[in-house]
Amino acid sequence: MAIWPATSSESIQERLTADHARLEASFGDVLRRIARDDRDETREAWNELERSLVAHLDAEEALLLPAFAVAHPDEAQTIAAEHEKIRARLLELGVAVDLHTLRLSDAIDFVHALRDHALHEDATLYRWADENVAAAVRNAVVRRLHPLA
Ligand SMILES: [Fe+2]
Ligand SMILES: [Fe+2]
Repeated sequence: MAIWPATSSESIQERLTADHARLEASFGDVLRRIARDDRDETREAWNELERSLVAHLDAEEALLLPAFAVAHPDEAQTIAAEHEKIRARLLELGVAVDLHTLRLSDAIDFVHALRDHALHEDATLYRWADENVAAAVRNAVVRRLHPLA
């Protein structure tokens, strides 16, 4: 099953930027359900977002960041610290979803933080990865993002 053949012209930048867009769309889903005050649907949409976001962070940390850290330790450390904050905030907001206390403004702030992080990666990690990471590793990243594909 060749999800991303070695001959593919798609870059890390294209694939992971597309995944950022997918995550943002999932977040839009959550926000719409919060606005409708549908608690069951909000939980369901949140679970989907959480699963996808954690898979994205895990893939970057396992397959891209270690090698990036050798070449650009400070940048890699910054990205890792941003991931840590995102994971912590994701947990806090997940608890708020469970308690039905998630505020729209907090969710929107989180979307903005994710957007800033995405822009940062786009300009550093992804640019570097496209010049330095082999097709086999790119394939592995995509499999981590879409384990059922
Ligand atoms: Fe990231
Ligand atoms: Fe990312």
